[in-house]
Amino acid sequence: MKILVTGAGGQVGQALQKLAPPHGIDIVALDRQALDITDKSAVRERVRDLSPDVVINAAAYTAVDKAEEEIDAAFAANAEGAENLALACAAGDIPLLHISTDFVFDGKKAGAYLEEDAVAPLSVYGKSKAEGEARVASVSHKYIILRTAWVFGGAQNFVNTMLRLAKSHKELNIVDDQTGGPTAADDIAASLLKIAKDVQETGFQSWGTFHYCGAPAITWYGFAKAIFARCPEVPKLNPIPTEDYPVPAERPKNSVLDCSKISRVFGIDQPDWQKALSGLLGQ
Ligand SMILES: NC(=O)c1ccc[n+]([C@@H]2O[C@H](COP(=O)([O-])OP(=O)(O)OC[C@H]3O[C@@H](n4cnc5c(N)ncnc54)[C@H](OP(=O)(O)O)[C@@H]3O)[C@@H](O)[C@H]2O)c1
Repeated sequence: MKILVTGAGGQVGQALQKLAPPHGIDIVALDRQALDITDKSAVRERVRDLSPDVVINAAAYTAVDKAEEEIDAAFAANAEGAENLALACAAGDIPLLHISTDFVFDGKKAGAYLEEDAVAPLSVYGKSKAEGEARVASVSHKYIILRTAWVFGGAQNFVNTMLRLAKSHKELNIVDDQTGGPTAADDIAASLLKIAKDVQETGFQSWGTFHYCGAPAITWYGFAKAIFARCPEVPKLNPIPTEDYPVPAERPKNSVLDCSKISRVFGIDQPDWQKALSGLLGQ
């Protein structure tokens, strides 16, 4: 099986390149320099010439706070870029696996979000991702939208931010009223590879949107405690409310995704982020 991966330089893109070869999967990994997904004709030509069995779109504008200012850039990558890929895939009858986010929700629901819950993004990033989802769904014949959350394991994420800040701060104030499911990039990549195989099977019809994030649900403060429980040097951690940590983009208070559909359809269980964190930090 040949899989074309866009956004190959990112957390999930790199995890896909690491995990695919042992499964005998041929990965054509294109980073932003090799293929800018906002370039519609380049996307069309690359997909047509490479003729992959599946395309995984791991490319995205992910700078959540910067997006409040860089609205055009966020929409170019997350909405137009996604649509460009969907159009190119539809032209070749190629399944597209597109990654989205918990930030398409406003976080006001009392329980875990289901795939069919209405999107109501609070931030420019969330709006651009929701628009990308809508465009993928409207132009694709064969698509899977995988909504995930709180990704860690690559170069830039909450885990690395905590470790970096701990070098210069004896105390850290961490938001304790936003709850979500941290998700290892490796676990997302493994799930995407399983989905890529399953959608090749004759008669596969379960196209659509799926939720996938780590369990158990935790706050950022709880996640920080778990990180430092695996580190030799531990700063003092203070739980704070969102209001005490002003940032440009509003985040959902409840980011918890119900992941039972992906388990039913693909047999993919929710990963334990604590295990992945221990593996990452070598503890
Ligand atoms: N990170 C999270 O916490 C999180 C949470 C929920 C969902 N997600 C979703 O998960 C997916 C993967 O996220 P990630 O954490 O792996 O993100 P990431 O590490 O930021 O990687 C995204 C990659 O996409 C590239 N990119 C940006 N614009 C592009 C364009 N126009 N054409 C081609 N490549 C482009 C980036 O390149 P540059 O570095 O050069 O910009 C980067 O290498 C995304 O769809 C994201 O929205 C992420």
